[in-house]
Amino acid sequence: MKNLSVNHLLGIKHLKKDDINLIFHLADSFKEVLARPIKKVPTLRDVTIANLFFESSTRTRISFELAEKRLSADVINFSASTSSLSKGESLIDTANNILAMKVDMIVLRHPYPGAAEFLSNNVNSVIINAGDGSHEHPTQALLDTYSIQEKLGTVKNKNVLIVGDIKHSRVALSNIFCLKKMGANVRVCGPSTLLPKYLNALGVEVSYDLHESIKWCDVANILRIQLERQKIKFFPSNREYAMLFGLNEDILKTINKDIILMHPGPINRGVEVTTGVIDSNKSIVLDQVENGVAIRMAILYLLASKIKRL
Ligand code: CP
Repeated sequence: MKNLSVNHLLGIKHLKKDDINLIFHLADSFKEVLARPIKKVPTLRDVTIANLFFESSTRTRISFELAEKRLSADVINFSASTSSLSKGESLIDTANNILAMKVDMIVLRHPYPGAAEFLSNNVNSVIINAGDGSHEHPTQALLDTYSIQEKLGTVKNKNVLIVGDIKHSRVALSNIFCLKKMGANVRVCGPSTLLPKYLNALGVEVSYDLHESIKWCDVANILRIQLERQKIKFFPSNREYAMLFGLNEDILKTINKDIILMHPGPINRGVEVTTGVIDSNKSIVLDQVENGVAIRMAILYLLASKIKRL
């Protein structure tokens, strides 16, 4: 079996197209495992994994924990709110103390961009980035791209639209890297205040017109407005945002082709998308969540072979 070209999963930026195809190929096999009555394999029976979440999460945290348990790993869940962080302990000290208890891999979610890479340079463990601030969310991009490939057969030459708060979104940046590597045409759409200037350098189209962009796309990935990362107001009100950039039934009625609708969650219903649209048969939101477990099993399996035991 081939292996990944990286020793950690820090971002899609560091992956090659072959790495992504390998993860997708393995995820296909793990999807078969997850469809069995007994959804468990002994593959990581001798591996211990710590999930270090310094930021809130529903999907990613549960998905990683399930993926680890389906592979028979031992799992430790760390919650920042009940840890010694409140007594001033550093990230490196926290990680090293957990690793001293013979933990093999760390899954890290952290509010600071670059936190996963920083940890990989400073502790002796395999590190998986489960979201670092507004930087990258590689497993989300992999499960999103895999879900598009599953529905459309291929990602190559498909028109994929990413709508919303691109500026603060780690999902957007990781999706752009992943989709471009897999040959998709990528366009971003949102208020000019939420579209950073560097986007053109990433080879994506930029639009401020949701109606025209929806006509252009095969897939629309709708993002949440990340109010928790916005220190100033980037648009006047949620109502105005919903009027100009919220996806609703009236906009969908103007197109005469099938498109796929995605959202990484959590959804702000009535702001970036209406309930009628995101719960419609065009939506693959729950397929994304389901595929996340198989994608994370594939990544854990591949990176487990990189563990250096003393
Ligand atoms: N998509 C995503 O990262 O969701 P959570 O914040 O709930 O993990």
